[in-house]
Amino acid sequence: MTMAWFEAKDLRKNYGIGGALIAALDGFSLSAERGDFVSIVGRSGSGKTTFLRIVAGLTETTSGELSFGSGTGAAKIGMVFQEPRLMPWLTVEQNILFPFLRGPRASMPIERSARFLGSLGLLPYRNAYPAQLSGGMAQRAALGRALCYEPEIILMDEPLGSLDYFTRRSLQDEILRLHMAENLTIFFVTHDVEEAIKLSRRVVVIDEGRKIGDIPIDLDFPRKQSDPGFARKLDEILSLIVR
Ligand SMILES: Nc1ncnc2c1ncn2[C@@H]1O[C@H](COP(=O)(O)OP(=O)(O)OP(=O)(O)O)[C@@H](O)[C@H]1O
Ligand SMILES: [Mg+2]
Repeated sequence: MTMAWFEAKDLRKNYGIGGALIAALDGFSLSAERGDFVSIVGRSGSGKTTFLRIVAGLTETTSGELSFGSGTGAAKIGMVFQEPRLMPWLTVEQNILFPFLRGPRASMPIERSARFLGSLGLLPYRNAYPAQLSGGMAQRAALGRALCYEPEIILMDEPLGSLDYFTRRSLQDEILRLHMAENLTIFFVTHDVEEAIKLSRRVVVIDEGRKIGDIPIDLDFPRKQSDPGFARKLDEILSLIVR
C-alpha cells in the first residue's frame, strides 16, 4: 500500500485535568496529499487545536504516528493562530522576515516578503509597528509571515475568526488564491462550516477526539452559498455535528 504524503495514524492525546483523564484525541487519523486543502470542523473542545499542535510539534502525542512525505526529518511547518502573535518591537516587514532575522542578511527573502506585503495589501504599512495596525492588518501580517517562510504545510487555527465580515471575505479569497498559485498544503480549523465548504477540498469533522466525517467538496470555484451543491454539503456536514 502506498503512503499518502501526510499521514497521521491513530493519534491519541490524554490530558490529566484535576484528577480526571481527558482524551483530547482518541484514535484520530488523517491523511493528505501535497496541495490538499483540508478543513477541520467540530464543536469547541473536540480536539482541533490539539491536532494542529501535534502536527506542528508543539505538543507530544500519547500514542500514534505522524509521517510526512518529505522524509523522516521535521517538515517545514507554518502556523497561523487565531490572534496574530506579532513581535511588538519589530515592524511589519521585520515580522514577516522573522524566521530569517537571525541568519545572514544575504539569505533573507526580501523580494518574497515584498511580494506578500503587496498581495496582502500591507506595502504602505511595511514600516509600521503592530500597535499601529488594525486587527485585520495584523492578522494579514501573521499570514504573510507564515507564507514567506515557504512551509511545506501551513496550519491555520481559526485564522479569520476575529476579523470583520469584509476583511474575512477578502482574506478567504487571498488564502484560496495562494493555495492554488503556490500549491500550498493547508490544514484549516474553523467554526464556520460555510467557510470550510467555500475554501477546501475536504472537510473533516471531528467529535470528542474522533473523526466522524471526511467529506470531499468537489464543487467548482467560485463557490456560492446559493448553489444547490453547496447547500447539500452544508446539510451533510451539519447532520453529523448537530445532534
Ligand atoms: N494544555 C492542556 N492541558 C490540559 N487539557 C488540555 C490542554 N489543551 C487542551 N486540553 C483539553 O483537550 C480537549 C481538546 O481541546 P482543543 O483545544 O484541542 O479543542 P478545540 O477543538 O480546539 O476547541 P475550540 O474550538 O474551543 O478551540 C479539551 O477537553 C481541553 O480541555
Ligand atoms: Mg481550538
